Amino acid sequence: MSVFIDTVDYIHGRVRIIDQTLLPGKDIRLDLDCVEDVADAIRSLKVRGAPAIGIAAAYGVLLELENILAEGDAGGKGFIFDRATGFDPERVKGLDVDLCGARLIAAIEKLALTRPTAVNLFQALDIMRRAVESEERCPEVYCGRIAGDAFHIHEEEIEVERRIGLNGARLISDGMTILTHCNAGGLATAGLGTALSVIYSASDQGKKVKVFADETRPLLQGARLTAYELEKNGIDTTIICDSAAHSVIASGKVDIVITGADRIAANGDTANKIGTFGLASTCDRFDIPFLVAAPLSTFDMATRSGEEIVIEERSGTELTHFHGIRIVPEGVRTYNPAFDVTPSDLISGIITEKSVIRAPYGENIRLLFFSPGQ
Ligand code: MRU
Repeated sequence: MSVFIDTVDYIHGRVRIIDQTLLPGKDIRLDLDCVEDVADAIRSLKVRGAPAIGIAAAYGVLLELENILAEGDAGGKGFIFDRATGFDPERVKGLDVDLCGARLIAAIEKLALTRPTAVNLFQALDIMRRAVESEERCPEVYCGRIAGDAFHIHEEEIEVERRIGLNGARLISDGMTILTHCNAGGLATAGLGTALSVIYSASDQGKKVKVFADETRPLLQGARLTAYELEKNGIDTTIICDSAAHSVIASGKVDIVITGADRIAANGDTANKIGTFGLASTCDRFDIPFLVAAPLSTFDMATRSGEEIVIEERSGTELTHFHGIRIVPEGVRTYNPAFDVTPSDLISGIITEKSVIRAPYGENIRLLFFSPGQ
């Protein structure tokens, strides 16, 4: 059975995350106690990966509600909201819903400014905004909806990833070698991951698989995080540097490439960690299947094609410094896009919790989202 990682959770009235910037050396939990700390954790990649930042943001909004209620709780009775037991309606009775709503909207706006590319962040914040802006004026019902929606985003994600794993594992045969990029595992999500869920699921079914994991410069999510998870799960893993991936594919050592996604446009164009587009192009050249694994919450039906996807540009110090040591001469300019867009014609299939979507993507994605009964 695959090892479950508690990447992000809501525990004792705090947002608990694993500080991923310290992995694999230190496995440390951080209890974030205000929305600014949640925003900072997302911005600095302490919590990262498209689904995980969506869940962390939803919990950031719940945390703000928890803190508003604590300010009025002179008795200091401890935390209010709990994923397993819910909450005591008596404790929220005196809440001024209008004042509270204004603060929660400010929290949502703060969280929305953290990272621009992964759509899961905005999908989760939209759900929370609808709850916050509801007409409901009864404090018990109002709080119940906000807490319920935040917990639901988290719990649904766990089930969705399990199903992605099962759908994707059908494409994996015993003995296959899979190449993956960045980290699309439990550390990027709330359950087993997306691309890595496929690998865990195939392995749980008794298929012997090998994995090449790209190290994923500049922040090394592949070397630090993917290798960490795969090793914990007993998967045969080999780390390669990003620039080796193309010749490794060309030499016939790879049967299939599977990555995650940060945003999938309505026509199937897919934004993912920088370097993914190059991998897909190499797969196309050598006739190797290139698959994307992602939940439906990663699809952005309001974005028609990849050209409209905003690509996050991160600080140049991620390139100029390594472990705090300058490795690039002073004065040299940097350009550090964190993601790229793979055109859908290079994608062999998109593994979702419902099915594996194939070309023509525009049509098939529309059918999946808008057909009755789907
Ligand atoms: O910058 P990061 O580490 O948040 O980038 C993460 C990725 O690119 C992942 O591949 C993507 O979010 C999919 S996670 C299931």
